[in-house]
Amino acid sequence: MPVSMPEGPASLLVVDDEEPIRAALARYLTQAGYKVSTAASGEEALAILGRQKIAGMLLDVRMPGVSGIDLVPQALELEPHLAILMLTAVTDATTAALCMQRGAFEYLIKPIDLVDLGRALERAMRRRATQMETAQVNQWLKEEVAIRAAEVRRERATLERVTIATLEVLVNALEAKDPFSRGHSARVADLSAMIASELQLSDEDIEVIRTAGRLHDIGKIGIREEILAKQGPLTPPEYEHVKDHVIIGTQILAPLAHLHNAIVCIRSHHERWDGDGYPDGLTGEDIPLGARILGIAEIFDALTTSRPYQEKMPANFAVDRIRDLAGVAVDPAVFAGLEAVIARRNTLVFLEDNDPA
Ligand SMILES: [Fe+2]
Repeated sequence: MPVSMPEGPASLLVVDDEEPIRAALARYLTQAGYKVSTAASGEEALAILGRQKIAGMLLDVRMPGVSGIDLVPQALELEPHLAILMLTAVTDATTAALCMQRGAFEYLIKPIDLVDLGRALERAMRRRATQMETAQVNQWLKEEVAIRAAEVRRERATLERVTIATLEVLVNALEAKDPFSRGHSARVADLSAMIASELQLSDEDIEVIRTAGRLHDIGKIGIREEILAKQGPLTPPEYEHVKDHVIIGTQILAPLAHLHNAIVCIRSHHERWDGDGYPDGLTGEDIPLGARILGIAEIFDALTTSRPYQEKMPANFAVDRIRDLAGVAVDPAVFAGLEAVIARRNTLVFLEDNDPA
């Protein structure tokens, strides 16, 4: 990983209101190989920091105007990795300690021993380099984590799509055995999604309902074949067995945590508004909205598809028949959604029928 190091001699800024001290320090530090700027006040120091890249600052604690203690946070705001060394009289040691709390690296007591100063500066420069390196590593880690998190999210979405597609293959295989149910789940899914959209549900909820529609009868895998294929009305025990498909479907899908919201709809798609449905006998709005939508789409599809015991019914007739169930077996609001979707679909069919081409 690249870590940028400062190029050429490090730039220092000497801030002291006493000219002889500034000059002496500048001379010594230049000889020691640093590139030195000087400022006679806090204001001047801030101006220099604003226009020049400075690595370290020697700062007198006591100055007229902006004091050393006030300058520390302002300077660090301009140059976050600035190595600050405080220069202080013995009596100012407490103030110097406060400056260190605000982010200065070290303090030296006047009169300054130049050898001590040289060592302190070297320490400060090393510490600054480490600090910059750590900041860069942290930044790199943060970016890396964000990239990996996005990858994981993408992979999970792909995996979820693949799982649903695989389950649909199972449903298709199941429906392929029975010419009367072929395409049933796909039609229920599409109609349910249209009703959900008509009821202005969120895009996310619409997709959950579409998925639930595609998988709502997957539990029929666990129902005895002779009953599923039976031509004619079921006996009461047979009907009880068919009812198990909602529980079996829930159990098959249960390990797939990402399908949780769809599973909730699948479990309850045979509940009735008046509480006479199964498996839990839920009533009214206690039935998940997605399940109420699937339920009505399933009834509509059953009425409009030919069955061994029934002629297929035109869409308008099916809507009229379901209207009688609104407030009894089905949610009146969801029925209004179905009615609007079918009315619009009829208009489209009508337009197609009259297409001169
Ligand atoms: Fe069902």
